[in-house]
Amino acid sequence: MKRHLVILGAQWGDEGKGKVVDLLSADFDMVVRYQGGSNAGHTVMVGGEKFVLHLLPTGILHQHTAGVVAQGMVVDLELLVKEMEELQQRGLKVWDRVFISDRAHLVLEYHKLLDSLFERKGKIGTTLRGIGPSYMFKYGRRGLRVCDLQDPDRTYKIIKENIEFVSDMCEKVYCENHKLDAGEIFERTMENYKKIRDRVADTTRLLLNFGGRVLFEGAQGTMLDIDMGTYPYVTSSNASALGLSNGTGLPPRYFSEANFWAVSKAYTTRVGEGPFPTELEGREGELLREKGGEYGATTGRPRRCGWLDLVALKHAVDVNGLDGLIITKLDVLDAFEEIRVCTAYEVDGELIDHFPASLSLLQKVKPVYKTFRGWQRDTRGAKSLSMMPSEALEYIDFIQEYLHVPVVMLSTGPKREEYFWLYEPVGKEL
Ligand code: GDP
Ligand code: IMO
Ligand code: MG
Repeated sequence: MKRHLVILGAQWGDEGKGKVVDLLSADFDMVVRYQGGSNAGHTVMVGGEKFVLHLLPTGILHQHTAGVVAQGMVVDLELLVKEMEELQQRGLKVWDRVFISDRAHLVLEYHKLLDSLFERKGKIGTTLRGIGPSYMFKYGRRGLRVCDLQDPDRTYKIIKENIEFVSDMCEKVYCENHKLDAGEIFERTMENYKKIRDRVADTTRLLLNFGGRVLFEGAQGTMLDIDMGTYPYVTSSNASALGLSNGTGLPPRYFSEANFWAVSKAYTTRVGEGPFPTELEGREGELLREKGGEYGATTGRPRRCGWLDLVALKHAVDVNGLDGLIITKLDVLDAFEEIRVCTAYEVDGELIDHFPASLSLLQKVKPVYKTFRGWQRDTRGAKSLSMMPSEALEYIDFIQEYLHVPVVMLSTGPKREEYFWLYEPVGKEL
């Protein structure tokens, strides 16, 4: 039996990781977010209530779990405090169950300012949450970490130096003056820090000494991974399995005790700019958006929609070493007469079945489709295989045969209980 479980996004984010992590967390003692920041928006529907988590791991909604904000994340303290307070106000006692890494880097106002300035040229379509600039500062060795806040003088010095650097850049590169007040940013940061000070921990040690079962909750998706995704139209962290070790501070060997599963929609969506070979721009794309409620959980932006791309999904299976796939939102395809799935790309008359690194090549690829008959029956909320139309099962069979990975679970609606196992892990030993 594998003790731990990793849940990743297999596509361009928003696959339904929140829903899946929430329901699986019932069997785990600790849930860990380890990369990204408040760019994530993980939605959970429990008992008619909707929760959208940005920084806390989704599993925190279960009262028995502990939640870790690990070192690979970039943390906007103000938003973290707000998220914790809001959950407390909604009757969920989370405060004493959250552990925040002392090594995590902070997102500050000047990162958000830079994010918006960078977006004016060479647009990526970011969430404007300061994620890219915060990681830039981290790797540029000028970041502010949670542990620095213990030392107010050091904190102030780092903030002040960074503000001078950012103001200089604004003036010299963008010919703009931006009023950034070191004193004000410092005060606000320290105020928020006081609120969470007792929740700060060496989360690597915490995890190394922990005997229970741990679920690692990926944010974004493999195709947004800084190394394996559609660079430069990606996020600034390793959203694939590659991010686990540096994101948690745990040795790679630790994860030999984990199963690796990823979540994919039964079709594809993406928010922001960048290549999307199976994108549908007309009526079918709108229908997917409308039926799937495809609007960003963080920014409210309409998501671009298209058919399932098995070339991209195979890339995710390979680079993550997946043991299983969870398919969500199959119910959104209920209305379609025909459903298509991309099995290869065509470039200049040649077929390719692997996901290319080159953006120039990706911009030229044309999807090659296999067409399936739609089932045109309501599958929302289906709880067993026997409730599924044969056409839907044919579709799922084709996906697992193509990918050589079992589809372990089907999610059939946004609610916690709307799912069933296709391949029941023995005795629930995931
Ligand atoms: P995440 O970022 O991967 O957690 O996904 P988001 O929460 O951003 O977006 C997924 C959306 O799909 C949310 O609104 C979920 O409530 C919803 N959802 C998840 N699973 C299903 C499903 O199986 N069917 C339907 N119709 N909606 C789902
Ligand atoms: P979850 O965890 C979907 C996208 C942005 C943009 C690119 C870079 O909810 O699946 P960033 O703000 O990270 O610098 O933006 O990445 N993006 C997401 N898309 N789901 C997410 O998170 C995303 N987080 C970032 O839209 O294209
Ligand atoms: Mg999301």
